[in-house]
Amino acid sequence: MFLRRTWRTPLMGTLYIDDQPVEFQPGDNVLDAAKRANIEVPYFCYHPALGAVGSCRVCAMETVPSREGEQPRTVMTCTLKAQDGMRFRFAQSDKAPGVSKTMVEFYMTRHPNDCPVCDEGGDCHLQNMTVEVGHAYRRFDGQKKTYPNQLLGPLVWNTANRCITCYRCVRFYQDYALGDDFGAMGSRNNVLFRRIDDGAFDSPFAGNIITVCPTGTFTDKVFRRKYSRTWMLKKSASICAHCSVGCHVEPGARAGTLRRVVPNENSAVNQYFICDRGRYAPHASEAANRPLQVKVGGQLRQEPALAVLRQALAVSDARWGVMGSAREDVVTNLVLQQLASDLNAPFTAFTDPLTEVRTKTAVNLSLSAPSLQDIEAADCILVVGELTEHAPMMELAVRQALKQGKPVMMLHAAASLLAGMVRKQRSLQAQTQAPVLWAETLQKLISSLSQEQADGWAALLKNAKAPVLLGVAEVMPTAAIKALAELAAVLGEQARVGFALPAANSFGAAQVSQAGSSEQLLEALERGDINALLVVGADPMSGWQGERWSKALAKIQHLVVVDHIHSATVQAATVVVPSAAVSERNGVFINYEGRVQSFAKAYSRETPVLLQEELIALLSGDARARVQSQLLSMLGSVMPSPGSTGSRIKPATLPIGQLAEAVLGNGPALVLQGWHGEEEVAGFATELASLTPHDSVGIAPAYAKALGLTLDKNSRLTISVHNKQLTLPVSLSAQVAEGCVAVSRRAFAELQARLGDEVKLTAAMRLSEEPAAPSVVAHFTPLQGDNSNGGLRP
Ligand code: SF4
Ligand code: SF4
Ligand code: FES
Repeated sequence: MFLRRTWRTPLMGTLYIDDQPVEFQPGDNVLDAAKRANIEVPYFCYHPALGAVGSCRVCAMETVPSREGEQPRTVMTCTLKAQDGMRFRFAQSDKAPGVSKTMVEFYMTRHPNDCPVCDEGGDCHLQNMTVEVGHAYRRFDGQKKTYPNQLLGPLVWNTANRCITCYRCVRFYQDYALGDDFGAMGSRNNVLFRRIDDGAFDSPFAGNIITVCPTGTFTDKVFRRKYSRTWMLKKSASICAHCSVGCHVEPGARAGTLRRVVPNENSAVNQYFICDRGRYAPHASEAANRPLQVKVGGQLRQEPALAVLRQALAVSDARWGVMGSAREDVVTNLVLQQLASDLNAPFTAFTDPLTEVRTKTAVNLSLSAPSLQDIEAADCILVVGELTEHAPMMELAVRQALKQGKPVMMLHAAASLLAGMVRKQRSLQAQTQAPVLWAETLQKLISSLSQEQADGWAALLKNAKAPVLLGVAEVMPTAAIKALAELAAVLGEQARVGFALPAANSFGAAQVSQAGSSEQLLEALERGDINALLVVGADPMSGWQGERWSKALAKIQHLVVVDHIHSATVQAATVVVPSAAVSERNGVFINYEGRVQSFAKAYSRETPVLLQEELIALLSGDARARVQSQLLSMLGSVMPSPGSTGSRIKPATLPIGQLAEAVLGNGPALVLQGWHGEEEVAGFATELASLTPHDSVGIAPAYAKALGLTLDKNSRLTISVHNKQLTLPVSLSAQVAEGCVAVSRRAFAELQARLGDEVKLTAAMRLSEEPAAPSVVAHFTPLQGDNSNGGLRP
């Protein structure tokens, strides 16, 4: 394992190791340069993303004196900046290899002899370094120190005795990811790396301590349970399918089942790390209720998936509609679009008109979306919406800027980890405000920029040389999306604006669904123009328009659903065709930047599931050629190979048409309160889903008081929309905007509220009390505008 710092940077100079010339790049230390030249220098505490602390003392080399009288010195190469002409002895040195070997032997005096049963075995940096320095014989026969393991929840396992105190874990957790619930405890040679209390980590990035730990002290608990030796895993270069960032990952499988997912290093997107959703959500492919067999009319069949799908599409009385998905890849959506055209059927890749409008608007305006590195390097950042829940690694990039003291401003409506951090740094830089007011606030900011004496946020943005503006498309009214892009335009070419989109391939889905719309498809179903629907990789019945879809779908004869999760739509289907999860197939996603990235199949399941190649086989020859040419015209060049960082495309300008969002009133609103492990597929990953916070209603104490409510942590609130009613415990948070109550995505969908609906907030009750007859304490102003868009303003 060696992690390179830079990939395509120019060479800076040459140094010499054992008389061999070694070229180095800007920012390299001597260890980086040696590794780049394939010189196997041992190291533990250094990590390119975490820097050097010089604490493990194993990366030793000896300097070659350049002046008469100068003595050779033993130096730690990770702490020396590479400079032209430097000279070192490594293999030729009498001392350096001995220093490294002694240090490794010292670490091994405490380390247990449990390599044969350690989950890290085969991937273990300590194991590799022990072999590399030649420490083959154990001389220490004293008693080893032992430490208690800590229980860290369902995702990470701790074996404390294996620690070599390199501090990488804590440097990642605290210094890099700004977490504060894990650290080094103890002193001198009695140091442990732990949380204060047992239990799961607070950070969305905690799984990376498994990646950075060079020993088996922290291992993947899910992998432990689905045990395999690491060298037996079938791996591939894949892309994470759980948000629009498109991080590079490496799934590992054995015997046709997924065992683990680790980050795949790359220069342009996530570099070395991934978030916990990306690491653990793919285990949804192993959910006990995953559809793995064809089901027709509720009966399981042994027939091949493609044959059943072909039969289902051939029924004579069907008038078809076709739905793709923003979590399906570009090729699948193109195939479905062509299939729809063959069947003369309407097509869309979206399930929810409101999300579709927002996504298409954001994609149209994503012409200069910043990469994660651009975000890290920004000198001023404005975030609109709760970024942590929607694009965790984009949020981690913002934390890097925050850590360097760069001004980060945030406009948000519900509690979020990032908002808490921003507030901690400078309290006035996070503003809690109802989404309906965001566009107005951004417009005011635009006006202030033109003033000579701009102050506050305007001054920070105006004085920045590389400002970055980030929005969360799913929660932003379209007016706010446009205002954020306008703000970037006013700031000039140096400003970049990007949007976290709702799903892994939202960008690609928007390009493919230019002509169709979810509203048109829904209306066609409601009118009875369509009596059959093919759905691939989407769950319209669980979305924000779930009830509307459920009613419309209840009327049709043929609901054919292709998916790999046991979604509500799968459960209602007349024909279920099991499909491959992302690790089980090839494909192409386009991330929020417009970056086209392909992914490769890591393994095949023992039970055959529908693959993309088989879907393509459904098309006639002519349509196949059209898919190919559309794909090339969309990508503008050849298909990127899996593992490469792909290339960026400019979005085609998407017609938004009649879907323009309704004018919103100024009344109170429901807003989304997410958590970072949440997403449509992630909910089926047992271990990750077990951490889902309990549903609650978030409300600011001041707003509750203004409504005449006396609330504490034992109170409950009831939200009613038409005949739907939800009573949930109260979560008091000053981070919920005035005039808003925050609910989870599930609760939001369950309420099935639509624009124009009246929402009531009813009296609080003590949890311990029997519910009394509720009294209405707040009527939410009905929203004005066109009902057809559906959804309350979040
Ligand atoms: S737990 Fe791992 S990463 Fe942390 S100090 Fe110990 S060996 Fe290093
Ligand atoms: S940030 Fe998004 S793409 Fe990256 S690992 Fe997390 S969920 Fe996956
Ligand atoms: S890697 Fe250089 S001192 Fe640890």
